[in-house]
Amino acid sequence: NRSSGRMGYALARAAHRRGADVTLVTGPVSLAPPRGCRMVRVETAAEMNEVMRAHAVASDLVIMVAAVADYRAYEAVDSKIKKDKAGLELRLERTEDILTGLSRARGKRVLVGFAAETNDLINNAIAKLHAKGLDLIVANDVTEEGSGFDTETNSAVLIDRDGGRETTGLLPKTELAERILTRSLELVSAAGLVAERA
Ligand code: CTP
Repeated sequence: NRSSGRMGYALARAAHRRGADVTLVTGPVSLAPPRGCRMVRVETAAEMNEVMRAHAVASDLVIMVAAVADYRAYEAVDSKIKKDKAGLELRLERTEDILTGLSRARGKRVLVGFAAETNDLINNAIAKLHAKGLDLIVANDVTEEGSGFDTETNSAVLIDRDGGRETTGLLPKTELAERILTRSLELVSAAGLVAERA
């Protein structure tokens, strides 16, 4: 997809400014690395899964913004695929769901996910919140003008496990990052992890 990485980089930058020790796990994007953050670069869903598992253990807060590919090619061939047929079917297999894996192996850490939806935003986001065992989900209607992949702005509804909701309206991604962090850090404090440094 056309994910730019802006939302994730804005979150990393904002968390660093608030005094967090930040590890940014990033796919290939064309953005400048945020100052003061530990960067781990990955290219595939499998690599991201491995790195997230390794780094989540020592984290109080995990925010998964990445638009991870849901499927990968079932097999790779060494030789060229000749165009000797009129059509070609590719067999795909599911990639691992990183957040679900993290919530199964969860300690006390707070887990935040995003839900990119094109229809029935709230119901689909609530279903993801529970299916993935999250504390907070950022529901994002990617069909809305100025919202979603490859935009400077975003509009979201923050939904927590207890049914609390905050509708942000259309905001620059940097401002939405601040809102998400404020809400996430309240959950971190409530879980008795690190104290919030506003
Ligand atoms: N996610 C993940 N691992 C995947 C796919 C997604 O951890 N293999 C995370 C995303 O980073 C996001 C959340 O799960 O925080 C929801 O991602 P989204 O693309 O909205 O939904 P999917 O789980 O892929 O479900 P669907 O595509 O069916 O809506």
